[in-house]
Amino acid sequence: MDRFIIEGNRHLSGSIAVSGAKNAILPVMAACLLAPGKSVLRNVPNLIDLKTMAHLLRVLGAHVDYDRGMMSIDSATICYNEAPYELVSQMRASIYVLGPLLARLGEARVSFPGGCAIGTRPVDLHLKAMEALGATINIEHGYIHAWAEKLTGAEIYFAKSSVGATINALMAAVLAEGTTHMFNAAMEPEVDSTIDMLNKMGARIAGKGSTSLTIEGVENLFPVEMRMIPDRIEAGTFLIAAALGTAPVTVTDCLPEHLAILLEKLRAAGCQLDVQDTAITVTPPRKILPVDVLTLPYPGFPTDLQAQFTVLMSLAEGVSFVEDTIFPDRFLYVAELNRLQANIRMERNVACVKGVSQLSGAEVMANDLRASAALVLAGMVAEGTTVISRIYHIDRGYDRIEEKLNGIGARITRERA
Ligand code: EPZ
Repeated sequence: MDRFIIEGNRHLSGSIAVSGAKNAILPVMAACLLAPGKSVLRNVPNLIDLKTMAHLLRVLGAHVDYDRGMMSIDSATICYNEAPYELVSQMRASIYVLGPLLARLGEARVSFPGGCAIGTRPVDLHLKAMEALGATINIEHGYIHAWAEKLTGAEIYFAKSSVGATINALMAAVLAEGTTHMFNAAMEPEVDSTIDMLNKMGARIAGKGSTSLTIEGVENLFPVEMRMIPDRIEAGTFLIAAALGTAPVTVTDCLPEHLAILLEKLRAAGCQLDVQDTAITVTPPRKILPVDVLTLPYPGFPTDLQAQFTVLMSLAEGVSFVEDTIFPDRFLYVAELNRLQANIRMERNVACVKGVSQLSGAEVMANDLRASAALVLAGMVAEGTTVISRIYHIDRGYDRIEEKLNGIGARITRERA
């Protein structure tokens, strides 16, 4: 398994570019199943999770080409309705094919996703939404088996804000007969970009950017071309890297409006920010100030930046509290950060972070995607050498992260197994 060897305490400066958003591309790839013919996606980074989704679409009978930032998906030929265990167990977002398969083929069998390193992650809200639209659902032999003679518009109330359930329900409702009203829908930019794609395909979804969505079912959708939005979590990871440095760094190709709460927290930590249309320059503070963080659905602070922000707080002058209300168990990385001599104590789902003046390089192990990114940031500012094993997690969601960070002065070497 590949490892990262990181020489810490380097001077960072210059600019670093953000790629297309993994979590916006995954649902849009599934949405291509709804429109027979060839859709084209641009600004698509080279990520393992996107390759896994491409593999799944091929298993269903689609033709997928994926090269140099462009992906084309021809779904005219889809003929299978099963998402097998071997793929769903690699990537939970495989559940995104449930809604489109039901809408297009009237039946789907999707392996039931298990737990993962960030918690139990149920899919009950996805299933309730499909049932509301008229599907019958059976859980059998580890598979979700869903079928419907026809889907019919309905009222869907989400008990909890869920990105995945909102998107899955949208993808089923766009071809249902009649009107669907959704309440407490998720408002993440990845939901909005899926709505943009579906509406471009001919769907009729109103209410984008709010928690109430109205979908007028249509008979057919047609293939389209679309450029993917920048990855706000990759951008946020780079902004936090910059805040940990000693000189200004500019993060380019991002959308600052998707990062408002992080920018507010960085300012509170003492950073100076120069915000342009698609770029943000961070001038790091001399002393990092402690700031409390509570993760919440968008526009709240994203759980996907919780670990990275905790690294920043581990070097603050004082004590801060970081609480994850979305995935309360998403703190496995804390023990690894403490190996680098951070001083973090867990009290249930709250990290009590007592800032230290310096982290100290050591061998650590990554256990999920964002935790890996957090350990990379910690290694970059630690004294001495940090070795991170199991970095395959990071390749799921960051395209050439070591190359990009080395471009602003980091010294990260990938040691291939
Ligand atoms: C998406 O996961 C992202 N994944 C996650 O990013 C992200 O952490 C998460 O949203 C929250 O922002 C993708 O977009 C592929 P949810 P998702 O449904 O859709 C509960 C990363 O690192 N819930 O919004 O699975 C759930 O347990 C990944 O890139 C139910 O109770 O998250 C959580 O507490 C990790 N029942 C909350 O809702 C359900 O049926 C929000 O989860 C579904 C969710």
